Amino acid sequence: MKKKPLIAGNWKMYKTASEAVTLVQTLKAAVHPVMNVEIVICPPFIALSEVSKVLTDTPIELGAQNMYSAPEGAFTGEISPMMLKDVRCRFVILGHSERRQYFKEDNILIHEKVKTALKYSLVPIVCVGETLEEREGKAHFDVVKTQLDECLGNLEKDDIAKVVIAYEPVWAIGTGKTATPDQAEQMHSYIRRLLNERFGKELGVKVPILYGGSVKPDNARSLMEKPNIDGALVGGASLKAETFAQIVREARMAYESGVNA
Ligand code: PGA
Repeated sequence: MKKKPLIAGNWKMYKTASEAVTLVQTLKAAVHPVMNVEIVICPPFIALSEVSKVLTDTPIELGAQNMYSAPEGAFTGEISPMMLKDVRCRFVILGHSERRQYFKEDNILIHEKVKTALKYSLVPIVCVGETLEEREGKAHFDVVKTQLDECLGNLEKDDIAKVVIAYEPVWAIGTGKTATPDQAEQMHSYIRRLLNERFGKELGVKVPILYGGSVKPDNARSLMEKPNIDGALVGGASLKAETFAQIVREARMAYESGVNA
């Protein structure tokens, strides 16, 4: 059975706190009423507190784009899970390819962050995905398997039920080149198989696997109709309220047509 889709907006390093408030107010109106879809907004850290106030009493959830693996301490410039909880974040994106590429985050650090997130009851959105070179070298399945194995590390069965995976092929991020629904589904069903093997089918099927990489209103539905694509992590297209709202509607239509089929 199809899961209720989860659509997460990753605003990256865009929008000042005041611009973020304006965007989230417009967005709140544009996606109303929220039905048959779960929405998460991930603004920059400095906007979380103000955006959180706008989202009070709405079903839209708040997420952060990163956090550090320690609960507190002398880590200049870092943000802790307790700080995120304090502004009512429920989700945190971990291991985004931009963190891996520009800030040299590796699977070991990402695993530490995943454990910390779970300890503080934050839902980690764990990102995996291959580069173009890796895909062309036919190494994409192996790369994603290693990322998944190492980022999840020794998680217990109880923990996996609280994790979201995002498959984001690096060559599709911000490039306008989306994986075709078939290409994406091929990787999603592979990830599903790995999760089932490792944690048992009952738990494996429950883990939401999001697709990310140039998701737009015109490709969202065909991606989301695939059996193992449970939602999207949306970058560029989440910065315009109407475009994001349209993706949310497409996801809802894909879900409703699947349920009623
Ligand atoms: P994009 O980014 O939608 O702009 O390709 C996706 C992401 O980086 O999460």
